[in-house]
Amino acid sequence: MKRDVIIACDFPGMNETLSFLDRFEGEKPYLKIGMELFYAAGPEIVRRIKERGHNIFLDLKLHDIPNTVKSAMKVLKGLEVDMTNLHAGGGCAMMEAALEGLTPSAGERKTKLIAVTMLTSLTREAMNNEILIAGDVQDTVMHYAMNARKSGLDGIVCSPLESPIVHEKIGNDFITVTPGVRFADGDVGDQARVTTPEKAKQLGSSFIVVGRPITRAEDPLAAWKRCMKEFAE
Ligand code: C5P
Repeated sequence: MKRDVIIACDFPGMNETLSFLDRFEGEKPYLKIGMELFYAAGPEIVRRIKERGHNIFLDLKLHDIPNTVKSAMKVLKGLEVDMTNLHAGGGCAMMEAALEGLTPSAGERKTKLIAVTMLTSLTREAMNNEILIAGDVQDTVMHYAMNARKSGLDGIVCSPLESPIVHEKIGNDFITVTPGVRFADGDVGDQARVTTPEKAKQLGSSFIVVGRPITRAEDPLAAWKRCMKEFAE
């Protein structure tokens, strides 16, 4: 599988996003549209960005009863994004229903479906004492990854540090999408555990999600190119 850098378009609306993309001089980076932008600009932002020829990861992290998630996925199917996601914590029946919703009655499914495992913002203490899941975070991530695989999903969102074990146990075709990436000489911001694009490549991540190191760079195009060079070449 071809490694790629996904830029997290964490902008408040359509105009900010399109002006940001105007700075890419015809280049077409893979983009992530998350909750903030989707709730503000709606499906129209997906259409506008697709029109410009970008691949899109729609990061809406669905989590509800299977029937509701299936119906929501049927709607998202119509947007024809390249990848979307849900929370593995919703269980296997929910993941299977989501996949059914995304799959057209005839022809191949166009949208890859991946599962968020344990949010990287959660500590082991919070997982053990608030969510009442015992053990190590990595064991939970691995268990959720196996559930996602069993349910027919294409991959997971996890920390780059968890990519090697996931690929070792499930194979290299199973996608790992990993946020928390910073340049060696860059600001860490609010991310606790970070890796460089080069390190994420060594750890075997399939995609890295990079937000502020590119969106807040003085020259976003140069920052994206640097990221691509370190991670994808
Ligand atoms: O700006 P930064 O590079 O930290 O952005 C990372 C992106 O990845 C954000 O859109 C954030 O919501 C997302 N993300 C994350 N950690 C997770 C899941 C998603 O940082 N565990």
